[in-house]
Amino acid sequence: MSNAYDEAYRKSLDDPEEFWAEAAKEIDWIKPWDKVLDDSNKPFYRWFAGAECNTCYNALDRHVEQGRGDQACLIYDSPVTGSQETYSYSELLDAVAKFAGVLYTQDVGKGDRVIIYMPMVAEAAIAMLACARLGAVHSVVFGGFAANELAVRIDDATPKVIISATCGIEVNRTIPYMPLLNSAIDTAKHKPSSCVILVRPELEAELVAGRDVNWAEAVKTAEPAGCAPVAATDPLYILYTSGTTGEPKGVVRDNGGHMVALKWSMKNIYNVDPGDVYWAASDVGWVVGHSYIVYAPLLHGCTTVLYEGKPVGTPDAGAFWRVISEHKVKVMFTAPTAFRAIKREDPNGDFIKQYDMSKFETLFLAGERTDPDTLQWAEDKLSVPVIDHWWQTESGWPIVSNCMGLHAFEVRPGSPTKPVPGWDVRVLDDECNEMSRDDIGSISIKLPLPPGFLLTLWKADQRFIDTYLAEYPGYYKTADAGFMDEDGYLSIMARTDDIINVAGHRLSTGGMEEVLAGHPDVAECAVIGVEDQLKGQLPVGFLILNVGATKSNEDVVAEVVQLVRDKIGPVAVFKLAVVVDRLPKTRSGKILRGTMQKIADNQDYKMPATIDDPAILGGIDAALQSIGYSIARNT
Ligand code: COA
Ligand code: AMP
Repeated sequence: MSNAYDEAYRKSLDDPEEFWAEAAKEIDWIKPWDKVLDDSNKPFYRWFAGAECNTCYNALDRHVEQGRGDQACLIYDSPVTGSQETYSYSELLDAVAKFAGVLYTQDVGKGDRVIIYMPMVAEAAIAMLACARLGAVHSVVFGGFAANELAVRIDDATPKVIISATCGIEVNRTIPYMPLLNSAIDTAKHKPSSCVILVRPELEAELVAGRDVNWAEAVKTAEPAGCAPVAATDPLYILYTSGTTGEPKGVVRDNGGHMVALKWSMKNIYNVDPGDVYWAASDVGWVVGHSYIVYAPLLHGCTTVLYEGKPVGTPDAGAFWRVISEHKVKVMFTAPTAFRAIKREDPNGDFIKQYDMSKFETLFLAGERTDPDTLQWAEDKLSVPVIDHWWQTESGWPIVSNCMGLHAFEVRPGSPTKPVPGWDVRVLDDECNEMSRDDIGSISIKLPLPPGFLLTLWKADQRFIDTYLAEYPGYYKTADAGFMDEDGYLSIMARTDDIINVAGHRLSTGGMEEVLAGHPDVAECAVIGVEDQLKGQLPVGFLILNVGATKSNEDVVAEVVQLVRDKIGPVAVFKLAVVVDRLPKTRSGKILRGTMQKIADNQDYKMPATIDDPAILGGIDAALQSIGYSIARNT
């Protein structure tokens, strides 16, 4: 018997224009579209072509106009500073309009890029919404990235203004941002015309005269700015994500399609209603933060929680339950790694018993595969449905998920269940044929992709085509491998490229290899992601040193570890490296990273037919053991 999910799914594929036009009624448009789906310039599809809108208006103004002004809009909860602040819809609108006024005086207008390099403070969300209000394009850079990564993004996005803060706060240290910002601007070829700096009381810093504007001072005299009409197809933001080289990819998202998809997802996937409290424990520097801390909950009239803290250590493994009970959170979304961290410290879930969790209905997990143990633990201890769902920076919102607002399917550990309406997910072999059920292949999605999917890569249309569309004509290649079972449940097994997922953070091993190769004593190197019980994966570097290298192996290892921290950032968690004599390769010279990874993770592997010298594989395990890594010990 068909259910609401089946009907929605069928309709979304049979008549996507009608399906999404219906969903688009939930958004206030300044001018209606000429065409729901413009496919006149394939493979660049555009949703709601001809329409005009403003994302900030839909997130804030219209709720105030419709009587939601006094409702809590954003709760900033910061155990690391011991502070909390609740903004009502009217108050957040006021703060955003004023800050948009500040940006306006800095000459920021429609289409200008603004980089936001900020910790998890309410002002980060205010800055994003202020850009949206002016039609400017924001690009948020995660605080755990080093100055060099920020510099690369400055050169690619060429921002008129950078918005930052004096510091970020980790569990037991304060991170001064100004040295990072200054160094990034020094390194970058492009220079912003000004920076707006939020001076935090936890760390004051000297601002650069003539360049920096003090946030608090500027807001005092700012005139509130109104909403600029933008085309639905205009970019709302650029979000850089790891690609298959060290060069990050600037994922470009539009205004109209993004709003329609996110708004639709709130009820149909997450089953929340306007007025409910929704909490995504992530960071505004990641896509989860963009979509589900800032835009989706506000577009839907929910209360969002912006949490500056960790699952453990701020102050203990009960931190999440405190937030849920104090703010009456109905739905929470985080990464499995956070739950593994909690489970490790509080295996019996004793902290949970100290809090009133009666308002909590559903936990959603994404960012990496949810291992069945963690899923089971969360279900047992919380007694709510635990929903694994799969998506990517590129998709902007879930591709495969149990759609809790349509029809809740049976949860099967290891699978995020079925494709979300709008996403025609297929599992393909190398010749672009569909695989039989249960057989692993490349997970691909038939074009056209639904609203909310990336438009292109910033200033890199050809790279967009080459990266995502060229290999399987007519499909988007997700770069994840997996299978679909007889019931249509998908399982996501592994990446097919060099991306690894460390504590739910997406990183490129290719990018790390570029840094290692930059060390003067390193002749050749390989970085692979090995299994880790807490963070899912950890990078490990294998180094071959130049003949005549003057430094000891230990010194080179220590230096490359520091280099990755300095160039990519602490978030890479690159702490394991080992010097080896040779790397396993094919006869044509390609390093067998996949086989190395299987050896490290103690998985079965086939001896590659093209291997140059099979004896070298034996050395990989020994090398890993010599630096204290082995799956057996990693428990
Ligand atoms: N600014 C500066 N440094 C940061 C940072 C930030 N915003 N975020 C992380 N770091 C640093 C950490 O302090 C740590 O530094 P260290 O090497 O000096 O210890 C390093 O980067 C690695 O961070 P992380 O991998 O996050 O480890 P952790 O030990 O600090 O925390 C978890 C582990 C599991 C608690 C944490 O990763 C977590 O909560 N993950 C949830 C993931 C998530 O939200 N993913 C988003 C997608 S949903
Ligand atoms: P990001 O772009 O940072 O969101 O990372 C996207 C990648 O994370 C995906 O391509 C997957 O490899 C992985 N991922 C995200 N969610 C899941 C999930 N629920 N199950 C398995 N892998 C996931």
